[in-house]
Amino acid sequence: MITSSCIPVQQCASYCSLFLEDKSCMSACEVVKHLEPFRLSLEKLKVVSTRLRKDMIRGLGKHTHHRAAVKMLPTFVRATPDGTEKGDFLALDLGGTNFRVLHVRVMEEEQKMVKMDSQLCAIPQEIMLGTGEQLFDHIAACLSEFLDSQNLKGQTLPMGFTFSFPCEQKEIDKSILIRWTKGFNCSGVEGEDVVKLLKEAIHRRGDYDISSVAMVNDTVGTMMSCGYRDQTCEIGMIIGTGTNACYMEEMKNVKRVEGEDGQMCINTEWGGFGDDGSLEDILTEFDKVVDRTSINPGVHTFEKMISGMYLGEIVRLVLMKLTEKKLLFKGEVSEALRTKETFETKFISMIEDGLENAKKILTELGLTWDLVDARVVRLVCETISSRSARLCAAALATIVDRIRVNRGLPHLKTTVGVDGTVYKKHPNYSDELQKAMHFLTPDCKIKFLVSEDGSGKGAAMVTAVAQRLALQSRLLEESDGEEDEEEKVRS
Ligand code: BGC
Repeated sequence: MITSSCIPVQQCASYCSLFLEDKSCMSACEVVKHLEPFRLSLEKLKVVSTRLRKDMIRGLGKHTHHRAAVKMLPTFVRATPDGTEKGDFLALDLGGTNFRVLHVRVMEEEQKMVKMDSQLCAIPQEIMLGTGEQLFDHIAACLSEFLDSQNLKGQTLPMGFTFSFPCEQKEIDKSILIRWTKGFNCSGVEGEDVVKLLKEAIHRRGDYDISSVAMVNDTVGTMMSCGYRDQTCEIGMIIGTGTNACYMEEMKNVKRVEGEDGQMCINTEWGGFGDDGSLEDILTEFDKVVDRTSINPGVHTFEKMISGMYLGEIVRLVLMKLTEKKLLFKGEVSEALRTKETFETKFISMIEDGLENAKKILTELGLTWDLVDARVVRLVCETISSRSARLCAAALATIVDRIRVNRGLPHLKTTVGVDGTVYKKHPNYSDELQKAMHFLTPDCKIKFLVSEDGSGKGAAMVTAVAQRLALQSRLLEESDGEEDEEEKVRS
């Protein structure tokens, strides 16, 4: 029964149905109260979107970029595929716990990319947290093995290198790592040119050589691989271990790169949104613990609320809190639940997929549960994944609307290439995200295209487009005159 002390009454009513007779409605309300800080209204999402819009302008500005939390990095990719690209390419892919090498053939006639072969090398944790030299030696060794197995050592194929970390790209083949994210923290790489480190490692071996390298962020690879199938694709988004998006920006707004004409793909690095404290009002106590106990506190605040590397841990912390408050598992925490990162993000998808999965997982975590516990756990999972999807929608809406305004259009029809396990594997994530988008960008019609191996084939596609255009530009120095958009908006 709902009592007058149940707060908030309306929400409580729907959640009371979760509970069985032996639990009072008060417990339902208690659970709801603890989850309340994760529930972001559509109005709040609009506020978040407005903040991001300002941060994006700051990131693009020549004079404001250095203090921007959202870096808005020029990628030197000036065009999406036009379907005439062709040839054989090597693609390297580093961004998660594995490193991949691929041989990709782009076929103009059939407008398709074929993965000829590929090899996967695990990156052990000691290498992820070791020295840069160890990391690049490991990559060079893996590449060597692959070239041997494919009889490719005699050839020098153009290479696309998907390196899914924030890099200040000076040119298409010169890319300085700003900082590590996700699980990586190799010494001696931040502030260095990643292409140079790769070439040095290859020279140390001396058994093969490489020619041109095009550096690619995974968002860019995703946009480009989808762009080959759908030439209206001008946004790439990743919601996986990390999160990020890129889009085609008007060159005249990219103040840090020479030239006014055409467009350039911008890697937003939206994961860093909030690093200057701008999201303080929506951070929960649990987000703060996740940040404090991560290997990079204070870095990638937005990513830590959204991506696969952190969602499971947020759920675990909430479950711990509810158990301490005796709202779950009769107040008994298991050793597994007490241990950091034991609640994997994939459990969230599994639990939301069916209560039977929840029961199995809770048993595996050594917990003694009843049906109500299983339902509450599912509610916690739904709350955390839904916040992630809605925050992503707020950020994506900002980009889509920026493109619309850039073009002076009342309505925009566009395609977003998407990749990442959270988006692909979760049963309701894409629906939730698209529903929120519908509300946040009523003037835009957005098609979502799931990328097929954007990091691999997309890197080959960037290399192919780069070859087609033989592009070269240089970053302007901060001292070069010209007003930034933020300055114009202010004056
Ligand atoms: C990185 C981005 C990347 C994203 C998705 C983030 O941690 O900073 O560069 O695109 O993860 O992999």
